[in-house]
Amino acid sequence: MPESRHTYSFPTRIEYGPGAIKDLPGIIKQAGFKKGLLVTDEGLENVGTPDILKNYFKSEGIDIAIFSGVKSNPTDDNVFDGTKIYKDSKCDFIIGLGGGSPIDVAKTIKVMATHDGPLEKYDDTKGGSDFISNNMPPFYAIPTTAGTGSEVGRSSVITIKSSNKKTIIFSPFMMPTIAVLDPEITVSLPPKLTAATGVDAFVHNLEAYIIDAFHPFADGIAKEGIYRSYKFLPIAVKDGTNIQARGEMLMASAMGATAFQKGLGLNHSIAHALGVFYDTHHGLANAAILVEVMKYNCADKAAKEKLASLGHVLGTENEADAVIDKIEEWLGTVGMPTNLKEIGIAKDQIQEIEDYSLEDPCCPMNPRKVEKGDVVGIIEKLL
Ligand SMILES: [Fe+2]
Repeated sequence: MPESRHTYSFPTRIEYGPGAIKDLPGIIKQAGFKKGLLVTDEGLENVGTPDILKNYFKSEGIDIAIFSGVKSNPTDDNVFDGTKIYKDSKCDFIIGLGGGSPIDVAKTIKVMATHDGPLEKYDDTKGGSDFISNNMPPFYAIPTTAGTGSEVGRSSVITIKSSNKKTIIFSPFMMPTIAVLDPEITVSLPPKLTAATGVDAFVHNLEAYIIDAFHPFADGIAKEGIYRSYKFLPIAVKDGTNIQARGEMLMASAMGATAFQKGLGLNHSIAHALGVFYDTHHGLANAAILVEVMKYNCADKAAKEKLASLGHVLGTENEADAVIDKIEEWLGTVGMPTNLKEIGIAKDQIQEIEDYSLEDPCCPMNPRKVEKGDVVGIIEKLL
């Protein structure tokens, strides 16, 4: 609230534009770095994007080692394998190329390049960020999807294999040195993945906007991110080669992750649970539950008013029901489900999903206080 004490920080340098990745080797050369570790995944390696990037660097006299072993739910093994290549190859900078997973792994290799393991030591929920100092190599993030916004974030999510626990590693020093937003490298993303990742970006902006915290900067960014993703995601899904729509979605994604330093809410808590129990794609899970979670949150007067205030952004009346109708229609336009029927949730697992959601770190920030039985109620409406 306006009377209380807050810290705001929006420091990421962003290089935006079609062809922006071609300028990165020159920028890094000027900064005096000579050998980089490029962290990516098998899918991107198969389509040849890392090699194209490597050749751009070669023309500037900079050598690149490639680590393409990042899994979709990355583990500490991925981090240690990449760190070993970084050290063995005597690298002095790191690049993360891909969706949220390669960027998160690259960000964590940045930590492990100069810090001792095990990774559990840096678990943010156990005060691990106190052990992360600023003596880390520079890190450049190149997103190939528009959704997580990890390229502007200060944290990563890595599964510790010994405990099978998704662990948040956080430090203000983990912020990428530069985020390169180049719409040309997102054009090959298929329509369904474009839609699912784009809805994630929309929900980051929406949840950040609606939660009850005093952060006018985040509110302003979130509102613009909602507008851009609402307007341009259907265009990017319909025509993946539309550079303007791809660029606007990269912006909406980075804006969402910038805005959610304010926090996220119940939509993400349930989506996280569905990811753990059913391996549901994060964006698709967010889409499937969004309408019911918004209706649920309308019992909170302030959340309902904030939702209503988005009417003019979405081209309708400033009224909560009208806004929810518009969002439901929009989800249909981009081909996303608005129920959980396709996921095939077993009735006897609903309680476990609720228990997980209530423990999720996003849950306490939700504008309506989530009581026992609430998540079960939401899920039952969606089956
Ligand atoms: Fe998300």
